[in-house]
This record gives sequence, structure tokens and C-alpha cells, in this order.
Amino acid sequence: MVADFGQNIPEWDGRGSTEKAVVGHVPVLLKEAIDFLAVTRGGTYLDATVGLGGHSSEIAKRLGAPGHLIGFDKDAAALERAAVSCQPSAVSEPGDWPTVTLIHGSFAEIGKRVEAASLDGLLADLGVSSLQLGDPARGFSFQADGPLDMRMNPQSGRTAEQVVNHLDERELADVIYEFGEERRSRRIARALVRARPILTTKQLVDVISAAARPMNQAERRIHPATRTFQALRIFVNRELDDLKALLEAAPRVLKPGGRLVVISFHSLEDRIVKDAMRDGAKQGLYRLLTKKPVTAAEEEIERNPRSRSAKMRAAEKV
Ligand SMILES: C[S@@+](CC[C@H](N)C(=O)[O-])C[C@H]1O[C@@H](n2cnc3c(N)ncnc32)[C@H](O)[C@@H]1O
Repeated sequence: MVADFGQNIPEWDGRGSTEKAVVGHVPVLLKEAIDFLAVTRGGTYLDATVGLGGHSSEIAKRLGAPGHLIGFDKDAAALERAAVSCQPSAVSEPGDWPTVTLIHGSFAEIGKRVEAASLDGLLADLGVSSLQLGDPARGFSFQADGPLDMRMNPQSGRTAEQVVNHLDERELADVIYEFGEERRSRRIARALVRARPILTTKQLVDVISAAARPMNQAERRIHPATRTFQALRIFVNRELDDLKALLEAAPRVLKPGGRLVVISFHSLEDRIVKDAMRDGAKQGLYRLLTKKPVTAAEEEIERNPRSRSAKMRAAEKV
């Protein structure tokens, strides 16, 4: 880790007022992300995954009236919540709050929608929010019964139900293997095709659980449906393609000295982020700020189990 960060940031233990304000959602690696972004008063920062505004509101607090915070999210429901959590905070001086622009769209469009060399920092905290996971009607969770949807933007694209019921067995197995890194993908795909139509998350869980019983202690540690749910979610939301498009655009939209900070939650994402930053460094576009990914401390993992799998990488535009 390179120690050149945080010059303009007051000492802070990462447990600010925002965490309590965004009820039910605890931002992951919050202090670390803010430190690596080196948020400067008056700067322009883009949060590519504004979610419930946990990271965004901490950035906004540090920008003051001359600053600009731009937030993207695919999920209109998340943006509604972010609009509240990114309002002037109780801790800011009256009137000293940045312009906040919230945009409903994919971060894959940043290259087209954001001016070149205009950002002092770009943050992406990938994956799903607690709002999405916690709402059975969205179909993201294998722990609650709901319709098989899984779209981050419920206004567009194919649902998980359409994918599960319309892909042929081989395509389904490939999706489960490629995006879920599930070794039992063929067996699961065969069982899914036989059980069609599958309309709910519970039905999906039951079919997978019967087809892929844990064979050893390691497999018993995670729910048998974990990898298939991850695969379907990534496929439905084109998550890896979007991430590649974001990483391709990042060096163009950052100013020299601007910071790119990405938090990922599984190895497929982290590999893409690592390779993009390393390739950028080889081409002289970036200075790497993290040789190894930053992970959550034990204390954060205890408070917020979701942080256990988080990996954060950061780079500075040269
Ligand atoms: C982990 S949450 C972000 C939480 C946020 N950092 C906070 O503290 O409240 C990820 C968010 O990114 C959004 N998202 C995922 N992929 C996206 C994409 N390609 N474009 C825009 N938003 C995306 C999801 O809808 C979700 O709201």
C-alpha cells in the first residue's frame, strides 16, 4: 500500500453520522475508500454505484459548496434513497454543500456521459445493495421467497425467470460455470431444465439444493444455491461487461492526479479490476496505490459480515 493519501482529511474512525442515517445499510470499507479517494474540497467526484448514498454522503461532506458530486445507479429505488441521504448533512456548515447530480443509468455509459479529464475521483462499490438483497420482491436473495427477477434496473432487460426458463441446458450450464465458478454446473442445469417452469426464488433454491447436495465440509460451508444465484445475477445485469466498460472509460474521465477506487466482492470482479489497473500502470496511465487489495478489518467484519469478501483496489491517474 502506498501511504500518499488522506492529506486533506480530518482524523475520523469511519463510524460517522451517515452510517446511522442510512438505516439498514452499512457502507463497506467506508473510511478506506474515502482516504484513497483523497477527497478535496471543491473537487468533482463520481460515485458510479451510489446505492443508498453511504459512500456518496461522506464524499459530499468533504466537498463543500464549490464541489460537485455525481452519482450513478441503475436502480431508481436506490436513487430515491440516495437523494435523501445526500442532502446537506447535520455536520456541514449551513449552505456549505456541493452540487449533487444523481443519474439513473449504468456506469457503463460514463465514457459517453461524463466529460473527459473532469473528475478528481471515481468510486465504484460493486454488486447489490442491502435494499436490493433485503426486498424479496426483487428476487436477489435465496433466503427469501419472491419472483425470480434479479434486475438491478427493473425497467429493462431480461429477468432471471426468463433466463432460467428459456436458455437451453448447455447455455445455462455455461452461465452457471462461468459466472458462478460452480463445478456442478451441468448437473444443476439439467435439474433446472427438468423442473421448468421455475417462477420463484424458493423453487429455484429447492431444485438446486436437490441437485447439488454438499459433498464435503468445504461445500457445506456455503449454501448450495450461492454460486448459481451469483451467476444468474451477473448474467442478468451484464455485470462484468459493465465493469469492463467502466474501467476502460476511467482513465479518460479522470484528471491527472485523479483517483480510481473500486470495491469488489468476488474473484471474477477483482481479477478484472486488478488486470485493468496493472495494464493501465504498464501503459503509463496509472500509478498503483494498492499493490495488494485492501480488505476489511476483523472489527468491520464483525459489525458488517458483507464486508468479509470485499477487496478494494486504487490507482491514481498520471
Ligand atoms: C453495493 S451497492 C452500493 C452501495 C453504496 N456504496 C452505499 O454505500 O450506499 C451497489 C449499487 O450499484 C448499483 N449498480 C450495480 N451495477 C451498476 C451499473 N452497471 N451501473 C449503475 N449502477 C450499478 C446497484 O444497483 C447498487 O445500488
